Amino acid sequence: MNDISDPVQAATAPDPYPYYTALRAAGPLYYDERLKLWVAAGSAAVCAVLQHPALFVRPAAEPVPRAIADTAAGAVFGGLARMNDGAAHQAARRALQGRLAEIDTLRLTQCTREHAARCRPANAPALDAWVVQVPLLAMAESLGVPQPVRQEVVALVQDFVACLSPLSSPQRLALAAEAAQALVERFGAGIGSWAGQVPGGLPAGVWVANLVGLLSQTCDATAGLLGNAVVALAREPGAWAAVSAEPALLRDVVDEVARHDPAIQNTRRYAHAQGAEILGRHIEPGQAVLVLLAAANRDAAVNPQPDAFQLGRIGRRHHGFGAGVHQCPGQALAAAIAESALCALTQADIDAARGFLRRPVYRASVNARVPQFHPQETP
Ligand code: HEM
Repeated sequence: MNDISDPVQAATAPDPYPYYTALRAAGPLYYDERLKLWVAAGSAAVCAVLQHPALFVRPAAEPVPRAIADTAAGAVFGGLARMNDGAAHQAARRALQGRLAEIDTLRLTQCTREHAARCRPANAPALDAWVVQVPLLAMAESLGVPQPVRQEVVALVQDFVACLSPLSSPQRLALAAEAAQALVERFGAGIGSWAGQVPGGLPAGVWVANLVGLLSQTCDATAGLLGNAVVALAREPGAWAAVSAEPALLRDVVDEVARHDPAIQNTRRYAHAQGAEILGRHIEPGQAVLVLLAAANRDAAVNPQPDAFQLGRIGRRHHGFGAGVHQCPGQALAAAIAESALCALTQADIDAARGFLRRPVYRASVNARVPQFHPQETP
């Protein structure tokens, strides 16, 4: 099983799926003594944890990671809908959902294709940059970030996301804090139509944090979806040629990739002072649950023949965008971006038989699965 030592490391292993199968067999919810956390691997357990009212997105003792607590990055982190529960979460989420629903998907599709076609990824390093930058540029344009500063904002977001990973070095965290400060200043000064229109009832600082959040949520997750789709198209016999001839197949490709090899492999929940009863187990106050979204997607109870990559899969179910009150509000946008970027890529004159497309390594992460076609050191 590729020498996978634990379910966190599995997220970036070459093939974590046989290992996840063994974890599902280990029980719906079991305690990992080495990692000191609970693990939910099957579909029913994953849904139960994500919908449990006494499990929260951050530990009570550490609402913001200690490593960034007193920095501009920490201030942004603390305002994110994704990182809050209760009233603060509801207010920010309501505002985000309202605004995201106003995005014109057709326009998003067009601008993704334009960005995708502009920087044709002819080799592995260019493809690594392309999977990250195309979604970010398209989303920044949708948030009304004007063209002259768009590239700069995209670069800042790429620096900012380092603060979301416990693997980041002190140098990367320092860069992330500087980027957070710069992004807050740009959005605070009202660059772009969204930044200038704070939803009623929401503090301006919280809105700005969540604009940064929309771009940072787009960054690794959509790069992962896009990159994993490229890998699937290169690996599945005949798939690249089929979608080049019939681009309408791409939506189904994106949906199957989101199930079969999802960008976000796991998320976490924490019990606060009252603890939580779930599936007959007691989660002690302060304990964490690792929620294996990617393992649940391969549960035969919800997807027959789960290991097969099947276009046209009947009744496909997946957990790649979460569930419950924190379920991703950007799912349709992410799928539209991935579909239109892939359309531009598969129409370009690229040799799909090149080995690097089929055998990437994965960028260091505790939860995201983002292929890296040209391996390089992460500082
Ligand atoms: C393939 C791309 C994406 C994937 C796989 C993905 C996945 C997820 C997942 C799993 C969650 C839930 C995390 C949890 O419950 O712990 C989430 C939340 C979220 N996502 Fe996405 N996401 C993607 C793209 C996007 C995009 C493009 C946006 C914005 C435009 C976005 C905005 C958000 C927000 C704001 C939340 C927090 C929601 C809340 O806490 O209420 N995501 N995403």
